Amino acid sequence: MGLNRKDLLGMQDLTAEEIQLILETAEPMKDIIRRQIKKVPTLRGKVVINLFYEPSTRTRTSFELAGKYMSADTINISTSTSSVVKGETLQDTAKTLEVMGADVVVIRHSAAGAPHILSKHLSASVINAGDGFHEHPTQALLDMFTIKEKKGRIAGLKVAIVGDILHSRVARSNIWGLARMGAEVRVIGPATLVPPEIEKLGVTIYTSVEEGVRDADVIMVLRIQLERQQKGLFPTIREYARLYGITAERVSLARPDVMIMHPGPMNRGVEIAPEVADSMQSVINEQVTNGVAVRMALLYLLAGGGNPHETVG
Ligand code: CP
Repeated sequence: MGLNRKDLLGMQDLTAEEIQLILETAEPMKDIIRRQIKKVPTLRGKVVINLFYEPSTRTRTSFELAGKYMSADTINISTSTSSVVKGETLQDTAKTLEVMGADVVVIRHSAAGAPHILSKHLSASVINAGDGFHEHPTQALLDMFTIKEKKGRIAGLKVAIVGDILHSRVARSNIWGLARMGAEVRVIGPATLVPPEIEKLGVTIYTSVEEGVRDADVIMVLRIQLERQQKGLFPTIREYARLYGITAERVSLARPDVMIMHPGPMNRGVEIAPEVADSMQSVINEQVTNGVAVRMALLYLLAGGGNPHETVG
């Protein structure tokens, strides 16, 4: 069984069954990346193009590795060295890549909705690797995979998301996905960084970090975007760290087996204390590894492959 859709644009329109299928498909993919020879022929002959209009370390590299581990031809387009700098439109760039044979276009763009526009104009599959403040569905899926792997379930868990909810595509995608899978989602942050209407998505808002993390099963820390301070959304970085930074003392208010997550990149000493980031409860490195497995699952489900267990040679 595959995903009965051409594209992955967001968590908002994924059903619980589709999320379940992606998470289950990522399990054998993780076995592949643990092998000494990380190569299966599943996507031989398929072309995956990473089209990133914004910087990325984790997402771009993990899509590249995911494609390579399954024998797809993966190509990275950096906008600074492409014809984008000569004024070519997003649509024309993507169409050019498609007529050269792209089966999947993975796109990151600063404009919300950019992947949705591409999906209407391409017959290739489009995967949203982050669009503006809107969604980052593959991050949410790898986060959910990590939670399920460690806790055995998602339903019923108390997940506290801390930070700049207003500008976070990671928060929005996780809220859609976690709520759909039955988690109790809390969002924590200064009132200027938490839109009140977010309650309509079924989350509870906390402005006190101590109250928000109490008895949490998972604390998901978001990067504080330093440019927000210039816009007056919080007084100073030091003040933010004092009021909302996740310290060992605050972690002690959560359940003893709480998981600490961060999508990266981290500002150590701002939104997360270094001893928390490096603690036994932190799964930040596992999130990165799981990102490769989940992206393999998505490429497999969208680009269509053979048996994911089959090895080369
Ligand atoms: N979490 C995440 O999207 O990281 P990158 O910006 O490095 O891809």
